[in-house]
Amino acid sequence: MSETTTVTNDLTNDLADNVAGDFVRVCSVDDLPTVGAVQAEIAGLRVAIVRDSAGDIHAIDDTCSHANVSLSEGDVEDGEIECWLHGSRFDLRSGKPTGLPAITPIAVYPVTIDGDDVFVSVTKEN
Ligand code: FES
Repeated sequence: MSETTTVTNDLTNDLADNVAGDFVRVCSVDDLPTVGAVQAEIAGLRVAIVRDSAGDIHAIDDTCSHANVSLSEGDVEDGEIECWLHGSRFDLRSGKPTGLPAITPIAVYPVTIDGDDVFVSVTKEN
């Protein structure tokens, strides 16, 4: 289990600076571990912002579909994140579970990078 880092974005504070279309600035690329996840809250949703071992950045539901466990506390390996509680793994691109006991996919949200800024849209799912 890795340590959880939480990034905050104050949506009520200067929306014009933070929102590009329906994408919301969540953090900077430098806020992310080299390989791993941070938790963010976007419009009331808990989202895990994840950098995989290829350096690609993903945004997924932070809550495991098996139980109310934060996926951002799990380990990231290749293109998957592992739930620390029972070991289910989820594909970071599709949200599909690749290992039991979870059988329900998690939401995957579009990410765009602008310079050093990470933007996520929680109004659409990939
Ligand atoms: S809570 Fe995530 S696999 Fe059980």
